[in-house]
Amino acid sequence: MNNQSAELSAVETRAREFQFTDSDFIALRTLVKEMTGINLTDSKRELVYGRVSRRLRALGLSTFGAYRELLESGDGSELVAFCNALTTNLTSFYRESHHFDYLRDEFLAARRGAGRGSERIRIWSSACSSGEEPYSIAMTIIETIPDWQKWDIKILATDLDSDILARAQRGCYTADRIKGIEPKRLARFLNESREGAERTYQVVPELAKLITFKQINLMHDLPMSGPLDAIFCRNVVIYFDKETQRALFARIAKVQRPGDLLFLGHSETLFKVSDDYALIGRTIYRRS
Ligand SMILES: C[S@@+](CC[C@H](N)C(=O)[O-])C[C@H]1O[C@@H](n2cnc3c(N)ncnc32)[C@H](O)[C@@H]1O
Repeated sequence: MNNQSAELSAVETRAREFQFTDSDFIALRTLVKEMTGINLTDSKRELVYGRVSRRLRALGLSTFGAYRELLESGDGSELVAFCNALTTNLTSFYRESHHFDYLRDEFLAARRGAGRGSERIRIWSSACSSGEEPYSIAMTIIETIPDWQKWDIKILATDLDSDILARAQRGCYTADRIKGIEPKRLARFLNESREGAERTYQVVPELAKLITFKQINLMHDLPMSGPLDAIFCRNVVIYFDKETQRALFARIAKVQRPGDLLFLGHSETLFKVSDDYALIGRTIYRRS
């Protein structure tokens, strides 16, 4: 290290509330990769410092060393809080709306047209974050299939992050979160109420009825055998390296039959990751 960078590094260390060494960063990123599959590159060092510092403050710890010891002791609840702190939960209603158009115009329309009466449909929202994705799927189904109550339809909504999953299950959103929903839909599917000065929007019971929430880590064996007609696996594998993605999609392929659908996020691809699917639309795949 030359004088100037040593000086900068000293200034940086002084400015920080906690000392954060290379070995702290490497140990934490190794652990998060093992537990969640998330691959944190060097550029994420500040993000890790910022988010994990909050855990140190909450626990009254004064060093990253003490925090690492706590994690290494196998403290289960802190391991969960640590992973929750490092996951990115960004989502919105009808995000990447072409997927919901496809679901309505191709998948559900074909099922309705099959005319066999009550159909069985299983859809998995595999990294559902705060719930906007599975509720958007449920709204699409109810709008497209008038007699949906007579069908056998189940949406499974899962996430690794237990805090965000609890929020998803609550189904209560602030005004800034419901901006993507058209007024007519909003009136039908979310009940407005006031909590003090704040307006909140609660999803109606008929939507919630279609969805089962469950904590699932995509790094582990899948606890279901399928078959799943459609899987939304969006904006999560972007954080995994290719090897982790290959292993995950090999597991996912086992719970789908030829013809079943897989939706990925806008910057995700199965190219050089899986040969079990064919690309049929913008980030839409069909099981071969
Ligand atoms: C950016 S959000 C995507 C939400 C939604 N699918 C969408 O596209 O709007 C990514 C979600 O993946 C979850 N996640 C990260 N690693 C995971 C893992 N190993 N297993 C299951 N979920 C994971 C995070 O907790 C987070 O809620």
